[in-house]
Amino acid sequence: MALRGVLRLGEVRIRVLDMEAACRHYGDHMGLLKVMTDADGMTYFKAWDEHDHHCVVLRKADSAGLDYFAFKVYDDKTLTALEGKIKEFGLPVERIAAGVYAKSGRRLQFVLPSGHTMQLYAEKEQIGNTLGTINPGVMPDEGVIRGFRINRIDHLLLGGVNIDENARLFREVFEFDLTERLIDADSKASLALFVSCSTKPHDVAFVLQPNPNKFHHVSFLLESVSDLVHAADMIGKHRIPVEVNTNRHGITRGATIYFFDPSGNRNEVFTGGYVHYPDTPTLTWDTSALGAAAFSQDNTPRESFFTVLT
Ligand code: FE2
Repeated sequence: MALRGVLRLGEVRIRVLDMEAACRHYGDHMGLLKVMTDADGMTYFKAWDEHDHHCVVLRKADSAGLDYFAFKVYDDKTLTALEGKIKEFGLPVERIAAGVYAKSGRRLQFVLPSGHTMQLYAEKEQIGNTLGTINPGVMPDEGVIRGFRINRIDHLLLGGVNIDENARLFREVFEFDLTERLIDADSKASLALFVSCSTKPHDVAFVLQPNPNKFHHVSFLLESVSDLVHAADMIGKHRIPVEVNTNRHGITRGATIYFFDPSGNRNEVFTGGYVHYPDTPTLTWDTSALGAAAFSQDNTPRESFFTVLT
């Protein structure tokens, strides 16, 4: 399957309690590039190797968490086709006109069975990665790659109810593949489901939680394990609260670090993982191997990892 439907996670809007502290974290420390502040005081960031205008929007609020997440689709025709399919699945779809969201074409918005607000869009202003598109070279100017050396936004983990229905929506309507799942060893109930629209081990995942609409983490891609160690050094230097230092997931095989922003939202930086193809079989883990599934270098699940969400 050529990638011509839903392309990738393109945008998250995160609620933060203190905008100044959040900008220090996502901008100065993590090294995302601040591209804009809008009239409502929301702050926009991009990772260096993304062409689109922004991927992270911060909104000051009284509680932390995720306002919405948005996937980019290939073109407007795809958006039109998906609107009908989402309605057929049984979800009401709200149409949002071009320009309502900054630098963006029209959007579709709907609420997932898990309670999360999701958007789809086909157009966003592209400002490039500073290399240009003619003989672009490989290294931007000094100072463009900074902080944790993040290449791009990668995926989300969302906590909520009805995660089997979420996975069914993503498979039947958005044509994602179910790449991996974690099930209860006794009841066989789904505890976590990983779905991909690309060759990545996941583009989004859902973890079962007692409450709807919870945010587990947003993840950013680093180029190498040496950049992961560099990020770990930066996390220590800036006294950023760490949940899990350098480790590797059994599920997805990504090498990872988990830490928190100043509002308590969980972030991840990661590198690696296998290449998924549409004919790759779904991998199943059960709770008898929970430690290895979660953190394969010490085979130890962290309780907070399954209970702390915003
Ligand atoms: Fe992740």
